Amino acid sequence: MLAQVRTPMVEASTDAIERFRAAVAGGLGLQFEEAKLGFLAGVLQRRLQITGQPVERYLSRLESEQDQDEVGALAQELTVGETYFFRNADHYRALTEHVLPERLAAHGAARVLRILSLGCASGEEPYSLAIMARTVIQDPAWPVSILGVDVNPVILDKARRGRYSEWALRETPADVRHRWFRAEGGHLVLDDALREAVRFERHNLVDEHARVWQLDPFDVIFCRNVLMYFTPAQAHALVGRTARLLQTGGYLFLGHAETLRGLSTAFHLRHTHGTFYYQRKDAPGSAAQREQAPPARAHGLPLPADGGGFRLRPEELADTWIATIGRAAARVAALAEAPRPRPIARAGQQKPGWELGLVLELLRKERFADALAMVEALPPESGGDPDVLLLHAVLLTHGGQLARAEEVCQRLLDVDDLNAGAHYLLALCREGSSDVSRALHHDQAAAYLDPGFAMPRLHLGLLSRRAGDRAAARQELGQALVLLQREEASRILLFGGGFGREALVALCRAELVACGGMP
Ligand SMILES: C[S@@+](CC[C@H](N)C(=O)[O-])C[C@H]1O[C@@H](n2cnc3c(N)ncnc32)[C@H](O)[C@@H]1O
Repeated sequence: MLAQVRTPMVEASTDAIERFRAAVAGGLGLQFEEAKLGFLAGVLQRRLQITGQPVERYLSRLESEQDQDEVGALAQELTVGETYFFRNADHYRALTEHVLPERLAAHGAARVLRILSLGCASGEEPYSLAIMARTVIQDPAWPVSILGVDVNPVILDKARRGRYSEWALRETPADVRHRWFRAEGGHLVLDDALREAVRFERHNLVDEHARVWQLDPFDVIFCRNVLMYFTPAQAHALVGRTARLLQTGGYLFLGHAETLRGLSTAFHLRHTHGTFYYQRKDAPGSAAQREQAPPARAHGLPLPADGGGFRLRPEELADTWIATIGRAAARVAALAEAPRPRPIARAGQQKPGWELGLVLELLRKERFADALAMVEALPPESGGDPDVLLLHAVLLTHGGQLARAEEVCQRLLDVDDLNAGAHYLLALCREGSSDVSRALHHDQAAAYLDPGFAMPRLHLGLLSRRAGDRAAARQELGQALVLLQREEASRILLFGGGFGREALVALCRAELVACGGMP
């Protein structure tokens, strides 16, 4: 007999709740974990009562996508509409100082700027975009077209009204508030001209036939705090459609806790104004732009006014993490006496998807030189394989061949700009060249792309401590300590610099104590 989930009104079988969960994932993209099944059961029961349908009929209609009104009603129950004006101010700074000027220059004579807010909720985001666009583009001859899209019809009605509470403007600068809002009956009402500049349309982002996907491409798309609620498959599909809806060189902004890692290779990662965002590939000069991206300013680390590298003094170099890794690798190499293995892959013998298990085995045995020789003996066709490139870069870094390691990392980033491992290795290489600002940039990129990755956090902690920023060091090392304890063993093997989990945890604790933190 099926288990039952009970409420005072109705009861739905576990089977029905599972079907409901799958229909919600298929129909709205939303993912609900096991822990949320009780909540889903409550929603299902309420919808059965309101619609007056028997459970079988209700679920069948939902599964066959016949009932878009019901999808809208479910959106009201199941989506999170939290938003406010100028959420993540760093995004708006990057937008006004970097993205919009670049897009305007790219347009030349074609005078229209198109901006889209996907999952716009009650309108605070597209209206913030309209304010920023109007601030940057004061020439009325430049039309700015802004569209907000959401699946929830009730929240869109609120957006169209343009009336907000004080709370919705909690991050809005006073001058902006003064310029674009008027007080009325305890609310703040948006300027009419601005309200008219933004259109709202109801579309379901999981519907690949929705009209929004047929529109002319956009310069900038904000799709913030939407993907984080989606199943991986729906997130992947949504990112693909979004990439196609961007102009070449157009920009995509995600929420702070979201990344495209593992979802798309159609974008370059951009890092300015202390924040990350994405640019569709094939932008003219985009490779050059990546190299010229302003260095990271974080953790209060001193950067010279000209934005050039913050460099280590020679006597400091011996004390760096990359130097420590080099010493560990050299010690291990001196101890290794095992005979050299034969190369593992020969053209024609191995299918692409090279047998890297033996290389990892050598790495595990700390036979770094042998592992490197084995990777370098792979056929040239393996040179485009991201796994081979990553392993090659790891081994070169271990062996202190930092210039070559950087070259391989850059090749890897050309294939996959969002590879967190490549960014971490580049951070080590840049530190080895005493270029701390680029080291910081790459560590931050690695930590942003993969929030569970312990090593860039540890490295950021060490860099911050050396720069005398004890508070930032404590924060990074504290996070590294937590992450290290649950880090995958294979990642410690690859990126631990020859140190095991226990040694890294001990190092992290000692560093934390040294900068006044709790071990
Ligand atoms: C947390 S809000 C984000 C609001 C705004 N983008 C921000 O970051 O402040 C998420 C929004 O995504 C919308 N949403 C969720 N699933 C959707 C779908 N399948 N199609 C369209 N919008 C969806 C929700 O209705 C909600 O308004």
